Amino acid sequence: MTDNNAPLSLELQRKIDLLKQRRKPIELGSITFDSPLLLAPMSSIGTAPFRLLMENLGAGGTVSELISCHGINYKNIRTRDMLKIDPREKNVGLQLFGENPEAMALAAKVTEEFGPKFIDINMGCPVKKVVGTGAGSSLLKDTSTLGHFFSTIKKSISVPLSIKIRLGWDHDSINAMEVIHIAREEGVEFVAVHGRTRAQQYTGKANWELLEQLGEKAPLDIIANGDLHTVSLVREKMKTSKCTALMLGRGPLRNPFLFLEPYINEGEEIFFTPEDHYEIVKKLVEYSRLYAFTDHTLLVSIRKHIIWLAAGYNNVSYFRDILFKTPELSETLKITEEFFCTQKDKRKRLQDHDAFMTSGHG
Ligand SMILES: Cc1cc2nc3c(=O)[nH]c(=O)nc-3n(C[C@H](O)[C@H](O)[C@H](O)COP(=O)(O)O)c2cc1C
Repeated sequence: MTDNNAPLSLELQRKIDLLKQRRKPIELGSITFDSPLLLAPMSSIGTAPFRLLMENLGAGGTVSELISCHGINYKNIRTRDMLKIDPREKNVGLQLFGENPEAMALAAKVTEEFGPKFIDINMGCPVKKVVGTGAGSSLLKDTSTLGHFFSTIKKSISVPLSIKIRLGWDHDSINAMEVIHIAREEGVEFVAVHGRTRAQQYTGKANWELLEQLGEKAPLDIIANGDLHTVSLVREKMKTSKCTALMLGRGPLRNPFLFLEPYINEGEEIFFTPEDHYEIVKKLVEYSRLYAFTDHTLLVSIRKHIIWLAAGYNNVSYFRDILFKTPELSETLKITEEFFCTQKDKRKRLQDHDAFMTSGHG
């Protein structure tokens, strides 16, 4: 059961602190991040409580979910709530989306007042509703307008500006390098690249060959992103990548220790147990309470996290069935505790190439 605001157990905190100490800071543009592993923006997921949790679990920095510039400018309350940053968050960027440079500049000015370390522009969202308005990955289609787009936004803010792009619109129009050159001219400081085209959506594999070419040759710091879902994949890229940083999206949803485990040395007997995962659920509930209006909204948001965190343990499908039939938060936490704390196999088993959540906004 939840004990509000209880610290993590000494044993878990000790493992977290030990691995956190091994991280090396990196610089992206003018910002120093505690580690090269950053949390990717994810809509309806990258909210303040989740971002805070991930920073506490070793993410060097985080980016919010995409936030509509028009929603901000129309003073939509739900949209403005999305701009809130927890005072304990350190290196967070707020991501805006929109197609109109003036509307984006106005919204960026408002966004800055919420205290982000940087403001990021979504140029990767493949979803029809967003692309249809000329925003998201649609911005990659006509590079002739990009200079004005970036400079108008840049002029309205004093915090660093970054962009998150895809490789291009489709296989025949891969233009990430051109977009990055224009961005640099207009004062954008760094770029996250999801190694797929818009046409690919989430199919196939991220193209790491092209990501590495950008890491080597692009005139701005590159954060490479795509398909780094397990410790072995992250570790390999940390060793070999020429990009300045790596961005992890879906991976940490199933393994919240993905920002830390790559720092475990070979042969070292450190691992995170099912009981540790249950502690993480409780911590997320604690943080989320500050931002949820009712137990029901909290339950809806926490349930999906619990199911993701359960991945790699035994009896997940049975657990999922009963979890979705449980209407109360307190009962949900009770069965969650039972699920995690009675696991016989203490190690989580996740496969490198499991397909997982094949849609999103970037
Ligand atoms: C559920 C979901 C929501 C997403 N929302 C956003 C978003 O709001 N902004 C954005 O730039 N990218 C968004 N993305 C894309 C991710 O940031 C990332 O580029 C993509 O998932 C590939 O990285 P991964 O394989 O590590 O998950 C989203 C992805 C998912 C799965």
